[in-house]
Amino acid sequence: MTNPTENKIYLPSQEVIDQANIKEYEELYKFSIENREQFWANQADYLSWYKKWDKVLDDSNPPFYKWFPGAQTNIVHNAIDRHQHTEVRNKLALIWEGEPGDVRSFSYHALNREVCQFANILKSMGVKRADVVTIYMPQIPEQIFAMLACAKIGAIHSVVYGGFSHEALADRINDANSRVVITADGGYRRGKVVEMKSVVNKAMELSPTMEICITVKRTNVDVYMENGRDYWYHDLVALPIAASKCDTEVMEADDTLFLLYTSGSTGRPKAMIHTHAGYSVYTSTTHRMVFDIKPDDRYWCAADPGWITGHSYIVYGPLMNGATIIMYEGAPTYPYPDRWWKMVERYGINILYTSPTAIRGLMRFGDSWPNRNDLSSLRLLGSVGEPINPEAWRWYHEVIGNSKCPIMDTWWQTETGGFMITPLPVTPLKPGSGTKAFFGNEIAVVDDDGKEVGANEEGTLVIKSPWPGMTAGIFKDPERYLDIYWSKYKKQGWYLTGDSAKRDEDGYFWIIGRTDDVIKVSGYRLGSAEIESVMISHPAIAESAAVALPHPIKGNCIHIFAILRNGYEASLEMEHDLINHVVTHMGPIAKPEAITIVDQLPKTRSGKIMRRVLKARALGLPEGDLSTLEE
Ligand code: WTA
Repeated sequence: MTNPTENKIYLPSQEVIDQANIKEYEELYKFSIENREQFWANQADYLSWYKKWDKVLDDSNPPFYKWFPGAQTNIVHNAIDRHQHTEVRNKLALIWEGEPGDVRSFSYHALNREVCQFANILKSMGVKRADVVTIYMPQIPEQIFAMLACAKIGAIHSVVYGGFSHEALADRINDANSRVVITADGGYRRGKVVEMKSVVNKAMELSPTMEICITVKRTNVDVYMENGRDYWYHDLVALPIAASKCDTEVMEADDTLFLLYTSGSTGRPKAMIHTHAGYSVYTSTTHRMVFDIKPDDRYWCAADPGWITGHSYIVYGPLMNGATIIMYEGAPTYPYPDRWWKMVERYGINILYTSPTAIRGLMRFGDSWPNRNDLSSLRLLGSVGEPINPEAWRWYHEVIGNSKCPIMDTWWQTETGGFMITPLPVTPLKPGSGTKAFFGNEIAVVDDDGKEVGANEEGTLVIKSPWPGMTAGIFKDPERYLDIYWSKYKKQGWYLTGDSAKRDEDGYFWIIGRTDDVIKVSGYRLGSAEIESVMISHPAIAESAAVALPHPIKGNCIHIFAILRNGYEASLEMEHDLINHVVTHMGPIAKPEAITIVDQLPKTRSGKIMRRVLKARALGLPEGDLSTLEE
């Protein structure tokens, strides 16, 4: 994992400095802290507003901060509408490549048309302002159109990642009271069709609120469609209702843009709320500054729009900046391990933003795959989702970036909306460190009392100041929001990230990992509690605990300890059966690496499972302080 002793510093080349939009960090950082509201007002001026704010920040009711109160906007007004009147109109907004090799591209003009048509269809289905629309789709252009169409008419989208099972999908539909779902018959992955509409059909049976399903045809796989409930997108778009003009709703600054479910330390996944104004300003600013966006750039964030990275840095940030985005449907290794490198060459991609898992996964195939392709168009690289180990960092830097592309290791969360700790292209880099706080943010590593820990000492990562991209809270559950994020350092009014970290003698941050029961598998965020509740729904299981163990490619993998009910016996078949059970009920991304049957789980006297002890046992490490362990 990250190693703070890895202190070789990579300085930016003169070429990088010459072309950087922001050439100096410290001074602007100082300005942004001393004049936070002024700094953000300056950034907000890059966007266009129906009505400007009365004030930059209303901090009268912390931690429910309101950014740009009084302003009126719509993120689509900035992501699409305003570009229709500039030279951006005829520029490519999206180049999309399907796994079988089909290519579709859309100018900003075409993007507007597609989104208007989709928006008119949603309206004709009775979707109104503030309705929640669930999106469960493969990585195809319509996924982006659907998100933007919701935003355009003031509806709230809730994108559920396609790797989740029908039950996980139904939970999210039900929690959000969503009556409309948008999906596709399926998508392509590793040369096979991954069915999606059939998953939605099963989810709909578990969702009393669900009334309408719109399905995009992608694969021609057979699907069951029910009269009056199910509509093909291509049928709807051929009707006169799907006109190519549609007014964008005027939204208040803090109107909800989307919900995104994410796993926390306890209980069911929670829906984080993001709003139109603050999120627009934060994602467009961070994207513009950190990726140093130039008018001709081709920018590829190889994430899935189903996660926050996709929301902020495939869709909203880049489109607000008028960038050309790239999207790819399928597996990075299909048909060969140089699919991504071929795409870089084919489209002349300048910026590539991905996860350490993906880098490690491609690195294991060796240098010859990237070396056979021309990667010289690359100017900047990015990493997100988990700590990047120095070996993967160096490979990414040397082999992919030809030692000339700075790597933007961006630390942030679903809750933060955008980058919190990140370098700029001109920042001297240390492999494995996200370097320093983004402008306007005061971030620290502290002990339990809130005292800053010494250099290179491990502590809790906290955010001390509000920022425009911050979540507006948990949907329908403000108490839980206060409890999870704001209760530990209530006195100080700091946001608890859930991560532990160190800061070195140069003030660089080194993220160690989660301190709660969130498991990051391949950068995907899963909760122990959700996995455990699926486990105990199996008839053989009395009790279980899911922990994260280190994995050479995935970063972490899921290891489950389980106690069987009387009458059941441990066997290889039983283990397989249980693994399948988790995959079926939660989805392929939650596939456990191993299940160990045990007679007992270590617990505290108050009955809490000590996952830390299980993890230490599995790794053969010292078990640490056991004073709270029940006999
Ligand atoms: C982890 C993803 C180290 C961290 C954008 C955080 C990282 C969690 C990094 C949020 C990074 C994200 N280095 N760790 N560059 N980026 N993380 O909500 O543990 O899916 O708390 O958001 O991912 O995961 P989430």
